[in-house]
Amino acid sequence: MSMHAAVVRSFDHPPRYEAYDTPQPSGPDQTLADVLAVGLHPRVRSGAAGRHYTSTGTLPMIPGIDGVGRLPGGGLVYFAVPDDVWGSMAEQAVVDPRRSVPLPENADVAKVAAAMNPAMSAWVALRRRVPLRPGQSVLVLGATGNAGTMAVQVASRLGAGRVVGAGRNPERLAALAAVGADEVVSLDDDPGATAARLAEAAAEVDIVIDYLWGAPAAAAMMAMLTARADRSRAMDWIQIGAIAGPAIELPSVALRSANLRIQGCGQGSVSPRAYLAELPSLVAEIDAGTIAVNARPVPLADVEAAWAAPELPGQRTVLIP
Ligand SMILES: NC(=O)c1ccc[n+]([C@@H]2O[C@H](COP(=O)([O-])OP(=O)(O)OC[C@H]3O[C@@H](n4cnc5c(N)ncnc54)[C@H](OP(=O)(O)O)[C@@H]3O)[C@@H](O)[C@H]2O)c1
Repeated sequence: MSMHAAVVRSFDHPPRYEAYDTPQPSGPDQTLADVLAVGLHPRVRSGAAGRHYTSTGTLPMIPGIDGVGRLPGGGLVYFAVPDDVWGSMAEQAVVDPRRSVPLPENADVAKVAAAMNPAMSAWVALRRRVPLRPGQSVLVLGATGNAGTMAVQVASRLGAGRVVGAGRNPERLAALAAVGADEVVSLDDDPGATAARLAEAAAEVDIVIDYLWGAPAAAAMMAMLTARADRSRAMDWIQIGAIAGPAIELPSVALRSANLRIQGCGQGSVSPRAYLAELPSLVAEIDAGTIAVNARPVPLADVEAAWAAPELPGQRTVLIP
Protein backbone atom coordinates (compact mmCIF):
# COMPACT_ATOMS: atom_id res chain seq x y z
CA MET A 1 0.00 0.00 0.00
CA SER A 2 1.34 3.43 -0.82
CA MET A 3 0.27 7.03 -0.37
CA HIS A 4 1.72 10.45 -1.12
CA ALA A 5 3.76 12.21 1.52
CA ALA A 6 6.36 14.93 2.13
CA VAL A 7 9.57 12.93 2.50
CA VAL A 8 12.90 14.11 3.91
CA ARG A 9 15.82 12.07 2.58
CA SER A 10 18.58 14.51 3.59
CA PHE A 11 18.59 17.01 6.46
CA ASP A 12 20.15 19.51 4.02
CA HIS A 13 17.18 19.50 1.66
CA PRO A 14 13.49 20.35 2.08
CA PRO A 15 11.01 17.48 1.90
CA ARG A 16 9.82 16.34 -1.52
CA TYR A 17 6.33 15.17 -2.43
CA GLU A 18 6.59 11.53 -3.41
CA ALA A 19 4.90 8.13 -3.25
CA TYR A 20 5.73 6.40 0.02
CA ASP A 21 4.73 3.33 2.00
CA THR A 22 1.51 3.78 3.95
CA PRO A 23 2.30 3.45 7.68
CA GLN A 24 0.74 0.52 9.48
CA PRO A 25 -0.90 0.72 12.91
CA SER A 26 1.03 -1.57 15.25
CA GLY A 27 -1.20 -1.99 18.27
CA PRO A 28 -4.69 -1.61 19.69
CA ASP A 29 -4.07 2.07 20.49
CA GLN A 30 -3.22 3.00 16.91
CA THR A 31 -5.37 3.65 13.88
CA LEU A 32 -4.83 5.00 10.37
CA ALA A 33 -6.35 8.45 9.87
CA ASP A 34 -6.91 10.38 6.65
CA VAL A 35 -4.97 13.63 7.08
CA LEU A 36 -6.80 16.85 6.15
CA ALA A 37 -4.49 19.69 7.26
CA VAL A 38 -0.98 20.01 8.79
CA GLY A 39 0.73 23.17 10.07
CA LEU A 40 4.26 24.05 8.93
CA HIS A 41 5.45 25.20 12.37
CA PRO A 42 9.05 26.23 13.26
CA ARG A 43 9.23 23.01 15.28
CA VAL A 44 8.43 21.03 12.10
CA ARG A 45 11.18 22.83 10.20
CA SER A 46 13.76 22.10 12.91
CA GLY A 47 12.71 18.43 13.03
CA ALA A 48 12.99 18.11 9.24
CA ALA A 49 16.48 19.61 9.45
CA GLY A 50 17.50 17.14 12.20
CA ARG A 51 18.00 20.06 14.60
CA HIS A 52 15.21 19.61 17.16
CA TYR A 53 16.23 18.35 20.59
CA THR A 54 13.88 15.37 20.22
CA SER A 55 15.24 14.33 16.78
CA THR A 56 16.61 10.79 16.52
CA GLY A 57 18.43 11.53 13.24
CA THR A 58 16.61 8.73 11.39
CA LEU A 59 16.13 9.10 7.60
CA PRO A 60 14.05 9.01 5.53
CA MET A 61 11.36 10.69 7.61
CA ILE A 62 8.00 12.34 7.12
CA PRO A 63 7.82 15.69 8.92
CA GLY A 64 4.76 17.02 10.75
CA ILE A 65 4.03 16.94 14.48
CA ASP A 66 0.26 17.37 14.49
CA GLY A 67 -2.73 17.92 12.23
CA VAL A 68 -6.42 17.54 11.62
CA GLY A 69 -7.67 14.22 10.31
CA ARG A 70 -10.57 11.87 9.97
CA LEU A 71 -10.59 8.60 11.92
CA PRO A 72 -11.85 5.37 10.29
CA GLY A 73 -15.16 5.73 12.18
CA GLY A 74 -15.70 9.12 10.54
CA GLY A 75 -14.85 11.43 13.46
CA LEU A 76 -12.98 14.66 12.78
CA VAL A 77 -10.05 15.13 15.20
CA TYR A 78 -7.03 17.26 16.00
CA PHE A 79 -4.15 14.87 16.67
CA ALA A 80 -0.57 15.03 17.89
CA VAL A 81 2.11 12.73 16.45
CA PRO A 82 4.68 11.39 18.91
CA ASP A 83 6.87 9.81 16.21
CA ASP A 84 9.70 11.80 14.56
CA VAL A 85 10.00 9.39 11.59
CA TRP A 86 6.35 8.90 10.60
CA GLY A 87 4.95 12.44 10.81
CA SER A 88 1.68 13.93 9.66
CA MET A 89 2.63 15.52 6.28
CA ALA A 90 1.08 12.69 4.32
CA GLU A 91 -2.23 11.52 2.99
CA GLN A 92 -2.48 9.16 5.93
CA ALA A 93 -0.91 8.99 9.37
CA VAL A 94 -0.96 6.60 12.30
CA VAL A 95 -2.87 8.24 15.11
CA ASP A 96 -3.31 7.24 18.73
CA PRO A 97 -6.93 8.20 19.44
CA ARG A 98 -5.88 8.92 23.06
CA ARG A 99 -3.67 11.70 21.65
CA SER A 100 -6.46 13.26 19.65
CA VAL A 101 -9.37 15.57 20.41
CA PRO A 102 -12.75 15.49 18.65
CA LEU A 103 -13.58 18.54 16.56
CA PRO A 104 -17.00 19.85 15.62
CA GLU A 105 -17.96 18.58 12.15
CA ASN A 106 -17.99 22.16 10.80
CA ALA A 107 -14.56 23.09 12.26
CA ASP A 108 -12.23 25.07 9.98
CA VAL A 109 -9.53 22.42 9.59
CA ALA A 110 -6.82 24.80 8.28
CA LYS A 111 -7.44 27.21 11.15
CA VAL A 112 -7.17 24.48 13.80
CA ALA A 113 -4.02 23.04 12.17
CA ALA A 114 -2.44 26.51 12.02
CA ALA A 115 -3.27 27.57 15.56
CA MET A 116 -2.90 24.63 17.92
CA ASN A 117 0.91 24.49 18.09
CA PRO A 118 1.61 28.23 18.49
CA ALA A 119 -1.38 28.81 20.80
CA MET A 120 -0.60 25.78 22.95
CA SER A 121 2.76 27.18 24.03
CA ALA A 122 1.37 30.03 26.14
CA TRP A 123 -1.81 28.14 27.03
CA VAL A 124 0.15 25.29 28.64
CA ALA A 125 2.77 27.63 30.13
CA LEU A 126 0.16 29.76 31.90
CA ARG A 127 -1.95 26.82 33.05
CA ARG A 128 0.65 24.14 33.80
CA ARG A 129 4.06 25.75 34.43
CA VAL A 130 3.18 29.02 36.15
CA PRO A 131 -0.60 29.07 36.60
CA LEU A 132 -1.67 32.66 35.96
CA ARG A 133 -3.55 34.25 38.83
CA PRO A 134 -6.28 36.71 37.81
CA GLY A 135 -4.93 40.24 37.55
CA GLN A 136 -1.26 39.31 37.20
CA SER A 137 0.81 41.15 34.60
CA VAL A 138 2.58 39.41 31.72
CA LEU A 139 5.34 40.39 29.28
CA VAL A 140 5.48 38.47 26.00
CA LEU A 141 9.04 38.71 24.70
CA GLY A 142 8.98 38.08 20.96
CA ALA A 143 5.31 38.94 20.60
CA THR A 144 5.26 39.55 16.85
CA GLY A 145 5.37 35.90 15.69
CA ASN A 146 2.44 33.51 15.55
CA ALA A 147 3.06 32.08 19.02
CA GLY A 148 3.84 35.47 20.58
CA THR A 149 0.74 37.15 19.17
CA MET A 150 -1.39 34.25 20.38
CA ALA A 151 0.33 34.45 23.79
CA VAL A 152 -0.92 38.03 24.15
CA GLN A 153 -4.46 36.82 23.49
CA VAL A 154 -4.10 33.74 25.70
CA ALA A 155 -2.79 35.80 28.64
CA SER A 156 -5.74 38.19 28.36
CA ARG A 157 -8.17 35.32 28.01
CA LEU A 158 -6.76 33.60 31.13
CA GLY A 159 -7.27 36.73 33.19
CA ALA A 160 -4.08 38.77 33.04
CA GLY A 161 -4.58 42.28 34.36
CA ARG A 162 -1.97 43.80 32.05
CA VAL A 163 -0.20 42.38 29.00
CA VAL A 164 2.90 43.94 27.44
CA GLY A 165 4.11 42.77 24.02
CA ALA A 166 7.74 43.24 22.96
CA GLY A 167 9.08 42.58 19.45
CA ARG A 168 11.04 44.02 16.57
CA ASN A 169 8.58 44.11 13.66
CA PRO A 170 6.92 47.59 13.83
CA GLU A 171 3.73 46.74 11.90
CA ARG A 172 3.11 43.53 13.81
CA LEU A 173 3.88 45.32 17.06
CA ALA A 174 1.34 48.03 16.26
CA ALA A 175 -1.27 45.36 15.52
CA LEU A 176 -0.93 43.84 19.01
CA ALA A 177 -3.15 46.49 20.59
CA ALA A 178 -6.07 45.18 18.55
CA VAL A 179 -5.64 41.69 20.04
CA GLY A 180 -5.36 42.81 23.66
CA ALA A 181 -1.87 44.19 24.38
CA ASP A 182 -2.06 47.05 26.90
CA GLU A 183 1.37 48.32 25.88
CA VAL A 184 4.03 47.42 23.32
CA VAL A 185 7.81 47.75 23.47
CA SER A 186 9.96 47.98 20.37
CA LEU A 187 13.11 45.84 20.42
CA ASP A 188 15.37 47.69 18.00
CA ASP A 189 19.09 47.80 17.21
CA ASP A 190 19.87 50.28 20.01
CA PRO A 191 20.46 48.11 23.14
CA GLY A 192 20.49 51.07 25.55
CA ALA A 193 17.20 52.51 24.32
CA THR A 194 15.60 49.05 24.21
CA ALA A 195 16.67 48.37 27.80
CA ALA A 196 15.23 51.70 28.94
CA ARG A 197 11.90 50.99 27.25
CA LEU A 198 11.68 47.49 28.76
CA ALA A 199 12.55 48.82 32.21
CA GLU A 200 9.84 51.45 31.91
CA ALA A 201 7.09 49.17 30.59
CA ALA A 202 7.84 45.77 32.10
CA ALA A 203 10.01 46.00 35.25
CA GLU A 204 7.02 45.18 37.44
CA VAL A 205 5.52 42.24 35.52
CA ASP A 206 4.83 38.96 37.32
CA ILE A 207 5.43 36.59 34.40
CA VAL A 208 7.53 36.70 31.22
CA ILE A 209 6.75 34.40 28.29
CA ASP A 210 9.96 34.30 26.28
CA TYR A 211 10.08 33.17 22.64
CA LEU A 212 13.47 34.79 21.92
CA TRP A 213 16.16 33.66 24.38
CA GLY A 214 19.70 34.59 23.22
CA ALA A 215 21.16 38.07 23.71
CA PRO A 216 17.78 39.94 23.70
CA ALA A 217 16.49 37.83 26.62
CA ALA A 218 19.64 38.29 28.71
CA ALA A 219 19.57 42.06 28.11
CA ALA A 220 15.86 42.20 28.96
CA MET A 221 16.35 40.29 32.23
CA MET A 222 19.05 42.67 33.44
CA ALA A 223 17.15 45.79 32.36
CA MET A 224 13.92 44.71 34.04
CA LEU A 225 15.42 43.34 37.27
CA THR A 226 17.62 46.38 37.78
CA ALA A 227 14.58 48.65 37.54
CA ARG A 228 12.26 46.48 39.69
CA ALA A 229 10.99 48.29 42.80
CA ASP A 230 10.96 45.19 45.04
CA ARG A 231 13.48 42.70 43.73
CA SER A 232 12.43 40.06 46.25
CA ARG A 233 9.02 39.89 44.56
CA ALA A 234 9.04 36.86 42.26
CA MET A 235 9.43 37.29 38.52
CA ASP A 236 8.62 34.02 36.71
CA TRP A 237 10.48 33.76 33.40
CA ILE A 238 9.08 31.00 31.16
CA GLN A 239 11.46 30.02 28.34
CA ILE A 240 9.48 28.74 25.34
CA GLY A 241 11.30 29.55 22.10
CA ALA A 242 14.90 30.30 21.14
CA ILE A 243 14.37 32.21 17.94
CA ALA A 244 17.12 34.75 18.78
CA GLY A 245 19.72 32.25 20.00
CA PRO A 246 20.12 28.89 21.77
CA ALA A 247 22.08 30.18 24.80
CA ILE A 248 22.29 33.21 27.06
CA GLU A 249 25.05 34.71 29.15
CA LEU A 250 23.55 35.76 32.47
CA PRO A 251 25.52 37.48 35.25
CA SER A 252 25.16 35.52 38.49
CA VAL A 253 24.04 38.69 40.25
CA ALA A 254 20.75 38.48 38.34
CA LEU A 255 19.92 35.36 40.35
CA ARG A 256 21.36 36.53 43.69
CA SER A 257 19.98 40.04 43.84
CA ALA A 258 16.48 39.34 42.59
CA ASN A 259 13.82 36.66 42.92
CA LEU A 260 14.13 35.55 39.29
CA ARG A 261 12.69 32.11 38.64
CA ILE A 262 13.56 30.69 35.23
CA GLN A 263 11.89 27.61 33.84
CA GLY A 264 10.97 26.31 30.41
CA CYS A 265 7.81 24.96 28.86
CA GLY A 266 7.91 22.31 26.16
CA GLN A 267 8.04 18.58 25.47
CA GLY A 268 9.71 17.03 28.50
CA SER A 269 9.13 19.76 31.08
CA VAL A 270 5.39 19.18 30.70
CA SER A 271 4.18 15.58 30.55
CA PRO A 272 2.29 14.25 27.51
CA ARG A 273 -0.65 13.61 29.84
CA ALA A 274 -0.72 17.28 30.92
CA TYR A 275 -0.51 18.48 27.30
CA LEU A 276 -3.36 16.19 26.33
CA ALA A 277 -5.48 17.40 29.21
CA GLU A 278 -5.18 20.96 27.87
CA LEU A 279 -6.11 20.16 24.26
CA PRO A 280 -9.94 20.17 24.54
CA SER A 281 -10.13 23.59 26.19
CA LEU A 282 -7.73 25.08 23.65
CA VAL A 283 -9.63 23.54 20.72
CA ALA A 284 -12.78 25.16 22.12
CA GLU A 285 -11.07 28.58 22.27
CA ILE A 286 -9.80 28.33 18.70
CA ASP A 287 -13.09 27.04 17.37
CA ALA A 288 -14.93 29.87 19.14
CA GLY A 289 -12.64 32.40 17.45
CA THR A 290 -11.20 33.95 20.65
CA ILE A 291 -7.67 33.53 19.25
CA ALA A 292 -7.08 35.18 15.87
CA VAL A 293 -5.57 32.85 13.25
CA ASN A 294 -4.20 33.56 9.76
CA ALA A 295 -3.81 30.22 7.97
CA ARG A 296 -2.35 29.94 4.46
CA PRO A 297 -3.54 26.65 2.93
CA VAL A 298 -1.15 25.13 0.35
CA PRO A 299 -1.51 21.74 -1.42
CA LEU A 300 0.81 19.10 0.07
CA ALA A 301 2.00 18.45 -3.49
CA ASP A 302 3.67 21.90 -3.34
CA VAL A 303 5.51 21.19 -0.08
CA GLU A 304 9.00 21.75 -1.50
CA ALA A 305 8.11 25.24 -2.76
CA ALA A 306 6.13 26.02 0.41
CA TRP A 307 9.19 25.24 2.52
CA ALA A 308 11.19 27.95 0.76
CA ALA A 309 8.41 30.51 0.31
CA PRO A 310 8.47 33.35 2.83
CA GLU A 311 5.39 33.60 5.04
CA LEU A 312 3.83 36.98 5.58
CA PRO A 313 4.20 38.07 9.21
CA GLY A 314 1.51 36.43 11.32
CA GLN A 315 0.71 33.84 8.70
CA ARG A 316 1.05 30.08 9.17
CA THR A 317 1.37 27.77 6.15
CA VAL A 318 -0.94 24.76 6.33
CA LEU A 319 -0.38 21.81 3.99
CA ILE A 320 -3.49 20.15 2.61
CA PRO A 321 -3.02 16.53 1.37
N1 LIG B 1 7.95 25.17 23.56
C1 LIG B 1 6.80 25.15 22.88
O1 LIG B 1 5.85 24.51 23.28
C2 LIG B 1 6.69 25.94 21.62
C3 LIG B 1 5.48 25.95 20.90
C4 LIG B 1 5.35 26.79 19.77
C5 LIG B 1 6.47 27.52 19.35
N2 LIG B 1 7.64 27.43 20.04
C6 LIG B 1 8.83 28.19 19.61
O2 LIG B 1 8.54 29.58 19.71
C7 LIG B 1 9.25 30.28 18.70
C8 LIG B 1 8.29 31.15 17.89
O3 LIG B 1 7.36 30.30 17.20
P1 LIG B 1 6.30 30.94 16.20
O4 LIG B 1 5.37 29.85 15.81
O5 LIG B 1 5.73 32.19 16.75
O6 LIG B 1 7.24 31.35 14.97
P2 LIG B 1 7.01 32.48 13.86
O7 LIG B 1 5.56 32.69 13.62
O8 LIG B 1 7.89 32.12 12.72
O9 LIG B 1 7.52 33.83 14.53
C9 LIG B 1 8.85 34.06 14.83
C10 LIG B 1 8.99 35.53 15.21
O10 LIG B 1 10.25 35.71 15.82
C11 LIG B 1 10.66 37.02 15.51
N3 LIG B 1 12.10 37.12 15.67
C12 LIG B 1 13.06 36.37 15.08
N4 LIG B 1 14.28 36.75 15.52
C13 LIG B 1 14.07 37.76 16.42
C14 LIG B 1 14.92 38.57 17.20
N5 LIG B 1 16.25 38.41 17.17
N6 LIG B 1 14.37 39.52 17.99
C15 LIG B 1 13.03 39.71 18.02
N7 LIG B 1 12.14 38.95 17.29
C16 LIG B 1 12.68 38.01 16.50
C17 LIG B 1 10.22 37.26 14.09
O11 LIG B 1 10.03 38.62 13.98
P3 LIG B 1 10.30 39.49 12.67
O12 LIG B 1 8.94 39.63 12.05
O13 LIG B 1 10.86 40.74 13.21
O14 LIG B 1 11.27 38.71 11.81
C18 LIG B 1 8.88 36.50 14.05
O15 LIG B 1 7.84 37.39 14.33
C19 LIG B 1 9.98 29.22 17.87
O16 LIG B 1 11.28 29.10 18.39
C20 LIG B 1 9.19 27.96 18.14
O17 LIG B 1 9.95 26.79 17.95
C21 LIG B 1 7.77 26.67 21.15
